[in-house]
Amino acid sequence: MDKSYDVVVIGAGPAGYVAAIRCAQLGMKTACIDSWVNRDGKPAFGGTCLNAGCIPSKAMLESSEIFHRAQHEFTRHGLKIKGLELDLAQMQKRRAEIVSGSTNGIVTLFKGYGVDSFYGQASIPEVGQVKVEPTDKKAETVLLSASKIIIASGSEPIELSSAPFDGDRIVDSWGALEFDAVPKKLGIIGAGVIGVELGSVWSRLGAEVVILEAMDQFLYMADQQIAKEALRQFKKQGLDIRLGCKLQSAKATKTKVKVEYSSGDKTESLDFDKLIVAVGRKPNTKGLFTPELGIQLTDRGFISVDRHYQTSVRGIYAIGDVIGGLMLAHKGSEEGVVLAEMLAGQKSHVNYDAVPSVIYTTPEIAWVGQTEEQLKEAGVSYRTGSFPFGANGRAKALEQAVGSVKIIADAKTDRVLGVHMIGPYVSELIAEMVLAMEFQASSEDIARTMHAHPSLSEVVHEAALAVDGRPIHFVARRK
Ligand code: FAD
Ligand code: NAI
Repeated sequence: MDKSYDVVVIGAGPAGYVAAIRCAQLGMKTACIDSWVNRDGKPAFGGTCLNAGCIPSKAMLESSEIFHRAQHEFTRHGLKIKGLELDLAQMQKRRAEIVSGSTNGIVTLFKGYGVDSFYGQASIPEVGQVKVEPTDKKAETVLLSASKIIIASGSEPIELSSAPFDGDRIVDSWGALEFDAVPKKLGIIGAGVIGVELGSVWSRLGAEVVILEAMDQFLYMADQQIAKEALRQFKKQGLDIRLGCKLQSAKATKTKVKVEYSSGDKTESLDFDKLIVAVGRKPNTKGLFTPELGIQLTDRGFISVDRHYQTSVRGIYAIGDVIGGLMLAHKGSEEGVVLAEMLAGQKSHVNYDAVPSVIYTTPEIAWVGQTEEQLKEAGVSYRTGSFPFGANGRAKALEQAVGSVKIIADAKTDRVLGVHMIGPYVSELIAEMVLAMEFQASSEDIARTMHAHPSLSEVVHEAALAVDGRPIHFVARRK
């Protein structure tokens, strides 16, 4: 079967499926192909994010958080529960249902927008052509032609030769979401975003969690004042996070994993029931094209693109994790929308200065824009204003009066340069400040905006007032 399209998108993760929908909305005849196969052998759209990343991890974070609060917080609300028990199988069933509901939703969206979809492995034999080997082995190979091809093939976990994945004792983040029993002792290599999110899940469900991090600094990508507060909170929750620990080897036996690591000049060893390796992700370009096609890669294997997302080969574009930058779903989706609009001849762009980052722990961590460390290094003079959730009525009512919001504004123009939050629902609060940065707001603009009472957003308002040394519900040092 041969078919001809305006656009063929390879990969139906948040970058690819969004690009395909936007192309179709703009009147382009579009197809989207994905090779993802779930553990049950069934193909699914949605990529890493929906099948094995954002969505299932947040489902498990929510369930484990409720379990933890029921055990440790409900009595404070005057609620007594007798016989509270963990039913992990049901928790996992709920996770799987949320995932399949979301991935089936993409099938509906594709149908609704007239995107032709294919389950199969795609490759680009030559410019303007995409070959699809269907996931259903009985089906025939399909050749699609398109003047524009978008590669959105995503990323995969980095595997360490000192701790190879075996799918049982030593697992990646996908395997770590699917344990059928709570490990008594859980080791995690890498105290990055996955390490702390999945470490929190299993710790709340009862595992003793040790996280080994190679760097001496915790959450190097976050503002360090917030990172220090996060480390303090996580340690208080019982997460044993050890910095400056270099993995030497991890060996799995039938019953455990023996880990050896160096810390300073000492070599230490620990035994775990399971080990999660979460040391970052790498671009996935396996089997997509041969070097003869001429698509250039960076030294780290990402696909190089120009500012119109075009690769070094005319008519072939790339977006999402496979081009690097922040490996976040919303960053990939935004690139998908913008590329589709550019292909339709519109002027469109991604504002990489206003990409929100969120870590879904308790407390949550969220930021947008520059950190104090980055501004110091760039020699930019700035003012900061912080306000604690401890002085906020809504946070107290939620029993989550922990953390703070910090707004950083340019010392001369007062333009907001960065916002850093740790506390309850900051994943939601950050949106206001992303919008503020998109609109090039000053801290005074936020300070002059009315915020509902009582609400967590008042902490953002007060932090803006604090930039000018005039918070109301906290006695500020005079500026
Ligand atoms: P992917 O989602 O990886 O999708 C690429 C798709 O392309 C895959 O389905 C793959 O099967 C397909 N593909 C690859 N090669 C081919 C081929 N040759 N033919 C056909 N199909 C192909 N990000 C957030 O923003 N928020 C979060 O909360 C969050 N949580 C995460 C939690 C975990 C545990 C993990 C691992 C990641 C998380 N991420 C999160 C990151 C997020 O999942 C990625 O940034 C996002 O999925 C990248 O989107 P993408 O479309 O570029 O790639
Ligand atoms: P990461 O880059 O966030 O963290 C990896 C950590 O492992 C780093 O701190 C690094 O110093 C450490 N490390 C590297 N090699 C090591 C070694 N040999 N021994 C010990 N530590 C080592 O990567 P992670 O956690 O794997 O996540 C991958 C990506 O997925 C993230 O960068 C993020 O983009 C995305 N993600 C996003 C989430 C969100 O938005 N909430 C949630 C989960 C993942």
